[in-house]
Amino acid sequence: MMNLERNHFLPIREILKTEITDIPKVAGEYLKSGKVVIFPTETVYGIGASSLIPYACKNIYKIKNRPSDNPFIIHFSSIDEIEEYAHLTFEIISIIKKLSPGPISYILKKKKEIFSTELPTIGVRIPSNKIAQEMLKISGPVSAPSANLSGKPSITKISDIKISFIGKVDCILEGGDCVGGIESTVIDLSVSHPKILRPGLLSIQEITKSLDGLKIDYSEEQNKSPGTKYRHYSPECNVLVIENEDQIDNYDNSAFIGFKIIPKITKIEIVKNNKDYINKLYSFFIQCEREKIEIIYCQKPIEDEDSFSLLNRLYKAVSKK
Ligand code: TXA
Ligand code: MG
Repeated sequence: MMNLERNHFLPIREILKTEITDIPKVAGEYLKSGKVVIFPTETVYGIGASSLIPYACKNIYKIKNRPSDNPFIIHFSSIDEIEEYAHLTFEIISIIKKLSPGPISYILKKKKEIFSTELPTIGVRIPSNKIAQEMLKISGPVSAPSANLSGKPSITKISDIKISFIGKVDCILEGGDCVGGIESTVIDLSVSHPKILRPGLLSIQEITKSLDGLKIDYSEEQNKSPGTKYRHYSPECNVLVIENEDQIDNYDNSAFIGFKIIPKITKIEIVKNNKDYINKLYSFFIQCEREKIEIIYCQKPIEDEDSFSLLNRLYKAVSKK
């Protein structure tokens, strides 16, 4: 017989009623009233709260189970709005105007109190996704990490968002599947020379081209972005990066993502080029995890301007760091 007595004492987890909408204004109003909202961007879905309401932002740490020293990126609708909270020089304004709106986040010196960690800097981004922009015009600044449990791959498909977050957040703003597929590039502009802290959707080549050849530093060892020290981007399955088919030694309950068909393997995702690879990677990881696939073989990407960021995410998934 079921022990009702015992069940009665189980901890009660708060289940929220999640409003699902495709109207940015509705989501913007939820944010203004201190609620947690999931919204689309051109990179991955974000889970956000108003940066001006600390308790709302703190709820995101709980929902994601995220270490409290890992700061959120603050999303803005315009550069004028950023200027209220961060110190902007003429050079910084010129860089932001050339690269944003888009899949890039800037680390800037903090000017005015806004929800963040103890750091003297804040991370800011102006997304180019039109739905996100409309929402941000209503809500004001929104602190938002990627919408996933801490350490898991970010979510890029609305169907996966619904599976993971209905009942856990106040509102989901639908915007279809993300056109990008991995997170924004994080660039530190608070130091004397711009430095990439996290490679991402906007490639270093594209950045350099837009900034008329300006040299950008990148160094993983000196990486000071707090998030990069935690496990990131990995599914429960084992992930291996392979250069050719001979390296596959287990076909049962295994999966492959890459440029060619592998006969006999349980699950396969063919990609056309690196942009397509980036677009499909996380949702493939999530499907494999759900289907309890044991090993995911990922074909090494062809070398082009997108391969650097793609390899960064693949190796993080391999090492589970
Ligand atoms: O594409 C994206 O960037 C997505 C969408 C939702 O905008 N967001 C995202 O957020 O990927 P999150 O929290 O998963 O990653 C933000 C990264 C973390 O590694 C964090 O440590 C770093 O940015 N970051 C944020 N503020 C920082 C700061 N003040 N200094 C150094 N790193 C910072
Ligand atoms: Mg994240």
